[in-house]
Amino acid sequence: MLSYQHSYHAGGPADVHKHLVLAELLTLLTQKSRGISYLETHAGRGLYDLASDDAKKTNEAAEGINALHLSDCPLAKTLQNMRQKHGGNAYPGSPMIARDILREQDMLHLMELHPVEYRILRQNLMGDGVSLHKRDGYEGVFAITPPKPRKGLVLIDPSYEIKTEYAQVAEFSHRLMAKWPEATILIWYPLLEAARHMDLVDGLKLPFIKHEVGFDLKDGQGMTGSGLILINAPYRSDEILQRVEKQSADILRPLA
Ligand SMILES: C[S@@+](CC[C@H](N)C(=O)[O-])C[C@H]1O[C@@H](n2cnc3c(N)ncnc32)[C@H](O)[C@@H]1O
Repeated sequence: MLSYQHSYHAGGPADVHKHLVLAELLTLLTQKSRGISYLETHAGRGLYDLASDDAKKTNEAAEGINALHLSDCPLAKTLQNMRQKHGGNAYPGSPMIARDILREQDMLHLMELHPVEYRILRQNLMGDGVSLHKRDGYEGVFAITPPKPRKGLVLIDPSYEIKTEYAQVAEFSHRLMAKWPEATILIWYPLLEAARHMDLVDGLKLPFIKHEVGFDLKDGQGMTGSGLILINAPYRSDEILQRVEKQSADILRPLA
């Protein structure tokens, strides 16, 4: 089932939560000169236009990135770079954030299954150091794991259109960690009134850090907040989460 389109939600509060943490993490992981690998199971198209019909239909960015005044932080730098290149309404997806922060010695591997999203992703991201795959993200990431360089980050960011996907993400994370124990994994999930994310959280039988925030979306369709799970969190990840909370205090409420 591929009916989900991220262009309706780009720049919304959930994106801001995920992308603030992702940009900080990538900055932290690239402090040393050794290269890293960045893998995504669900890449999307990489770059969004907040003035597009899709984005205007939900207007989530008005309650997300457009309601924030980001001071100096990795996401603010990427946003500025993208807007210089692509205009004032551009908003970077996770692949573009990664490409902006990563260096020559690093590698990106991006999976996207939707034919239209994949075509646009290719237009936006094709280049040296980027490997693009039109295939199922779980199957694709597992197949190329462990990658070279061996140090790296995997972002798992599905649309959870199928209820069983929460449990699938937990099961996939176990398999991936068994095959690539050095990996850091970042998982995004929605907080819904139905609390379906508990299948993921309870299903994870390995140590992790969890970061959840609440927000009010006019048309949130039952989504009350956003959650992130970090497996094999790098040293000083707690400082990242504190900085993210400070940066996003105007739109995101940290949950206990
Ligand atoms: C939430 S969006 C990704 C957003 C992106 N990570 C970002 O933050 O900019 C999920 C994407 O996964 C794609 N998708 C859905 N099922 C997939 C699968 N089994 N394998 C790979 N991609 C899939 C959808 O087409 C959609 O573009």
